[in-house]
Amino acid sequence: MPAEFDAYARTYAEHLKDPFREQFASNSCFFPNKKLLLIRDFFQRRAQDTRALSWIDLGCGQGELLRLGQPHFAAVAGCDPSDRMIKECVNLNVRHQRVPDHIPFSDESFDLVTAVCVYHHVDVALRGALAQEAVRVLKPGGIFCIIEHNPFNPITQLIVRRSPVDVNARLLTADTAKRLSHAAGVQFIETRYFLYFPERVYRSLAGLENCLARTPLGGQFAIFSRKS
Ligand SMILES: C[S@@+](CC[C@H](N)C(=O)[O-])C[C@H]1O[C@@H](n2cnc3c(N)ncnc32)[C@H](O)[C@@H]1O
Repeated sequence: MPAEFDAYARTYAEHLKDPFREQFASNSCFFPNKKLLLIRDFFQRRAQDTRALSWIDLGCGQGELLRLGQPHFAAVAGCDPSDRMIKECVNLNVRHQRVPDHIPFSDESFDLVTAVCVYHHVDVALRGALAQEAVRVLKPGGIFCIIEHNPFNPITQLIVRRSPVDVNARLLTADTAKRLSHAAGVQFIETRYFLYFPERVYRSLAGLENCLARTPLGGQFAIFSRKS
């Protein structure tokens, strides 16, 4: 059966176009850049050098985040059930997920697993198995990070409702993502909310956004957990 995102792959950037989204950021790189900053900040605060870490991005899509992150990690990889999406991941180490709840990499091979805006596209019944797979490919001590749209943010809700790629999306709250990770056997570390301000405001209010990281109103959130 073709993966849902095969249908969007050829004109993916067009599908994401939305005046509200463009008001928020003039340049589409703003969103992946913010996510990479957040991930790097997590490790910096723990004095851990990401250049020594291997990272897999689960549901990597067209590899935008991996391409940005590659210079900051020892090794990066990705996988996705849509082989049309990963065709755009030129020169990246990506594999096709033939089975949506199986990650085609060996046990304990990565220090960091991310799943960015993926779980809201995964059937509720499959989410637990996919989280267990994420934990399977993590090394002991490795970090599992789920980044998702925050359903409590009204602008996020509006953009999701208007987006053609989100017709089947089922948003999850930070608590649900936390429970999902916990049930897969990792230990919760922290939740960070981000994307409070449009790009032009963020430039001068980055410090305030950091202060709001625990307030559950940002446009998206990240849940970080550790495999013991
Ligand atoms: C909104 S896109 C996000 C892509 C990328 N993570 C990003 O942030 O740009 C959602 C991605 O999740 C993928 N996806 C859907 N079901 C999945 C599953 N069971 N396992 C992994 N990825 C999945 C889709 O194929 C699609 O590429």
